[in-house]
Amino acid sequence: MRMLVTGGAGFIGANFVHRTLATRPDARITVLDALTYAGTRASLAPVADRITFVHGDICDADLVNRLVAETDLVVHFAAESHNDNSLADPWPFVRTNVVGTTTLLQAVRTHDVRYHHISTDEVYGDLELDDPARFTETTPYNPSSPYSSTKASSDLLVRAWARSFGIRATISNCSNNYGPYQHVEKFIPRQITNVLTGVRPRLYGTGANVRDWIHVDDHNDAVWTIVERGELGQTYLIGADGEANNRTVVETILELCGKDPNDFDFVTDRPGHDLRYAIDSTRLRTELGWTPTYSDFRAGLTATIDWYRTNENWWRPQKDATEAVYAGTERVTGAGSRH
Ligand SMILES: NC(=O)c1ccc[n+]([C@@H]2O[C@H](COP(=O)([O-])OP(=O)(O)OC[C@H]3O[C@@H](n4cnc5c(N)ncnc54)[C@H](O)[C@@H]3O)[C@@H](O)[C@H]2O)c1
Repeated sequence: MRMLVTGGAGFIGANFVHRTLATRPDARITVLDALTYAGTRASLAPVADRITFVHGDICDADLVNRLVAETDLVVHFAAESHNDNSLADPWPFVRTNVVGTTTLLQAVRTHDVRYHHISTDEVYGDLELDDPARFTETTPYNPSSPYSSTKASSDLLVRAWARSFGIRATISNCSNNYGPYQHVEKFIPRQITNVLTGVRPRLYGTGANVRDWIHVDDHNDAVWTIVERGELGQTYLIGADGEANNRTVVETILELCGKDPNDFDFVTDRPGHDLRYAIDSTRLRTELGWTPTYSDFRAGLTATIDWYRTNENWWRPQKDATEAVYAGTERVTGAGSRH
């Protein structure tokens, strides 16, 4: 199996490459990645001699066309992925997430190559905190941010190319991932690396916002399940019943690091901050037989903290620049206290 993994130097893509080589040692993987601030070849260093790495842009139609012509499967992770950045400057999101995806779709159409599209549950907008509902494959799209609206756009493009041009495509929309190799701008690694460097973690608003956490290996196993057994043209939601509010996550990280769970600050909320995400992954479980293996979020967090503790060389170069960006926008509004 020859496969092209876009965004393979980013968080989920790199974990996908590691997982694939561990479970399917015969896979011949080419990674296409532009190495933006979010991508680093260091995330692929342990498997560097087992893959082909191409430093390039998914908006480069000639390059994409040539690489797609030489592959049997495209798994498309490459994206601008951080909500906060999309509020500061939406243009890279429109370019990579919309134009880049279209470039890939045209190439898989030309060469009739199987395509799997990685997307997010954020395309569905948010739920009220006290709403028992969860997202399903039939929930209407209602994205809130430039990030989620460009991801929603890319999903709709895939559906249109499947229907109008018959491309062999599947889509997955996954909840929030955590695990190794995640950029320190993201919520869980930011809090972990703050605690590890003696800085008080920071929570938007009141910390009541709920996310539905899934370990990145469970996400990637689900992607393989869909690639191998999914129905062409269909969408599958991926989630592991991992709902937790942000405050609980920060308190747990502090506790697992041996600190006072109240030792954090609240900061001004992000504009348009989604309240709650929750995934109903019944379809993936019943039709394709997938189940998550990391059902214990606390155990997964412990392993992730250990990874960041022992891999400071990987995250240290990103840390200061990331905190400088946050320092320009965040204002402390209060200190954490036991509830
Ligand atoms: N992180 C999550 O919790 C989550 C949840 C659900 C879905 N997703 C989706 O999964 C995918 C991967 O997310 P992630 O968290 O690994 O993102 P990430 O930001 O860690 O990685 C993105 C990668 O894409 C590369 N890239 C960006 N623009 C590119 C371009 N124009 N050409 C080629 N490469 C480019 C970057 O260099 C980086 O390596 C995204 O599509 C995202 O929307 C993420």
